[in-house]
Amino acid sequence: MTKSREDREDQKPTDHDPGRRKFLKGVGIAGAGAAIADHLWVEAEAKEKVVTPESLSGTVKVVLDVNGQKREAQVEPRTTLLNTLRNHLDPAVTGPKLVCDVGTCGACTVLLDDKPVYSCLVLAVDAANKKITTVEGLGTPENPNAVQAAFVENDALMCGFCTPGFVTTISAYLKKNPNPSLADVREACKGNFCRCGTYPRVFEAALAAAKGSQA
Ligand code: FES
Ligand code: FES
Repeated sequence: MTKSREDREDQKPTDHDPGRRKFLKGVGIAGAGAAIADHLWVEAEAKEKVVTPESLSGTVKVVLDVNGQKREAQVEPRTTLLNTLRNHLDPAVTGPKLVCDVGTCGACTVLLDDKPVYSCLVLAVDAANKKITTVEGLGTPENPNAVQAAFVENDALMCGFCTPGFVTTISAYLKKNPNPSLADVREACKGNFCRCGTYPRVFEAALAAAKGSQA
């Protein structure tokens, strides 16, 4: 028999009885069983309420090894390494750039124990006790490394926003493969995007740096 609208209304869960007790009754756990179920339900609700945004707030101290220096920062546990470098150190380390913040462009690339990582995808707390090298740690304007010098000589940048990421990635790659082909360099740079389209110059610079390092 088709149920009337009133019958259906009767079955609607109330605020404190969201259908669960009716279900339990329906399968035979009535009376005391339902009372226990209600009790458990209220307890579960109370436990949920204990976890508030306030109780999850707070900061922790992290000590980072950045370019050979111990740097301290007070950050929330969810703070990324990129955010910490750029916004929670004094002086800030601004070589790694914030562009996409979701691990797609490579502008934030740093070396973590000599391996390129997207620092927007690494938590600062996870980078503690690891060696962090940013583009600033690869060389200086007076004494650039081979890749930095080759970027200047080959005019391998336009706006320059992607440049620290490329320089860091290529510097790490040339240590692994000091004699790469163009295809190797392109492959090594596949995680770095240049919105200005300076790729040909970037790849030339990488190959020039490799040659220069061998000479
Ligand atoms: S800012 Fe990290 S990958 Fe784009
Ligand atoms: S030089 Fe502008 S994004 Fe690469």
